[in-house]
Amino acid sequence: MSAPLTDTTSANTPNALLITGASILGGDVADVLVVDGVIAAVGEIPADAAAGAEVIDAAGLVALPGLVDLHTHLREPGREDAETVVTGSRAAAVGGYTAVLAMANTNPVTDTAEAAERVFDLGVKAGLVQVQPVGAVTKGLAGEELAELGLMHRSRAGVTVFSDDGKCVHDSRVMRRALEYVKAFGGVISQHSQDPHLAGSTSCCHEGEVSGRLGLPGWPGVAEEVIVARDVMLARHTNSRLHVAHVSTAGSVEIIRWAKSLGIDVTAEVTPHHLLLTTDLLEGYDPVYKVNPPLRPAEDVLALRAALADGTIDAVATDHAPHARHDKEHAFVDAAFGMLGLETALAVVRTAMGDDFTWADIARVMSQNPAKIAGLAGQGGTLAVGEPAHLTLVDPEAEVTVDRADSVSLSRNNPWHGRSVVSRVLHTIYNGTVTVRDGKLD
Ligand code: DOR
Repeated sequence: MSAPLTDTTSANTPNALLITGASILGGDVADVLVVDGVIAAVGEIPADAAAGAEVIDAAGLVALPGLVDLHTHLREPGREDAETVVTGSRAAAVGGYTAVLAMANTNPVTDTAEAAERVFDLGVKAGLVQVQPVGAVTKGLAGEELAELGLMHRSRAGVTVFSDDGKCVHDSRVMRRALEYVKAFGGVISQHSQDPHLAGSTSCCHEGEVSGRLGLPGWPGVAEEVIVARDVMLARHTNSRLHVAHVSTAGSVEIIRWAKSLGIDVTAEVTPHHLLLTTDLLEGYDPVYKVNPPLRPAEDVLALRAALADGTIDAVATDHAPHARHDKEHAFVDAAFGMLGLETALAVVRTAMGDDFTWADIARVMSQNPAKIAGLAGQGGTLAVGEPAHLTLVDPEAEVTVDRADSVSLSRNNPWHGRSVVSRVLHTIYNGTVTVRDGKLD
């Protein structure tokens, strides 16, 4: 790659950053010059053209557009003992993220313009990543009355993604109205697909041979699939936009593939943990593996990887779900659902998907597609001249053994503790500012 050098005279300012010798999206090796938060030049940049710039030696590293997470639980307001906007932003930056969508299942719920603006403002104040609030679909996540969708969209927070995540919008009439409503302003409903009747209120894992043997109440994959099938038909009927959160079964993949083949406006995400972990991990009854949707059998995991590779699943989203010790460290049936994900996502995806899944593929599913789905202008770029400088620099060969004590999250429910993963985020640059250097917060 050799883009022409544009005006680099302004590099003689303290606001310039020169990244040398990075492989751009895993392809050609180039230098990247950032001036005043914008990518000013990409190519071979003579040292004198970047005089005065801070230099990051990125030889051997892969440069990606900053990662974008469609599905983060930041827990503020309400559960600041588990995570805050600041600590979650730190975890995001360490994981290579420059934008996160903050889920609405806080206390109080993000179901008004004021609540959305509060989270938005906390994100701006933290200043480490773009924190984009997700609005609730229904008031109080109760599934009955639509929340202030239009007001949240028109607020300072500019909400475009709506979700009752943690709960399914199970009433078909409410889901239809929500899809109709957000269509007017190009919004999208991100659905937690889970039929409450098929899932049951006391289930804690995937229903199958393992749950039977362990004596744990489970719910079957079809509880997800019936909602995915219903929702793609509602998206078709309303001609509106549906996003399927945390797809976890081969059956859901089949439905989404079919819906896309018909031109139905549906996108989907998969979590890193559903790409690597399987239900047999429950053998030790360790609640760190309790998550919703639950870990599934290997055949589902393989179908999810294939769907991510062939584009049926558009994005990887972490579902980063921090929990305080006193909520998580219980008997399996009583523990909270959820696991940490922001700091480990990139390495887990790399490890799960292998070398055939290129760095350009990783940029597509962890940055570009998520930014497109959420409508985040300036995120999810291609590292071209003129774009805002949101970048992640990754050591592609690093082998890392995850240690939960290293996490900057407030919580410790880390299912990757003690596991080896491949690749490591070394530097994160948000709006031209280095937020993470050598793997540590700057
Ligand atoms: O495991 C989960 N935890 N799944 C969800 O849908 C919600 C999340 C949470 O908020 O803890």
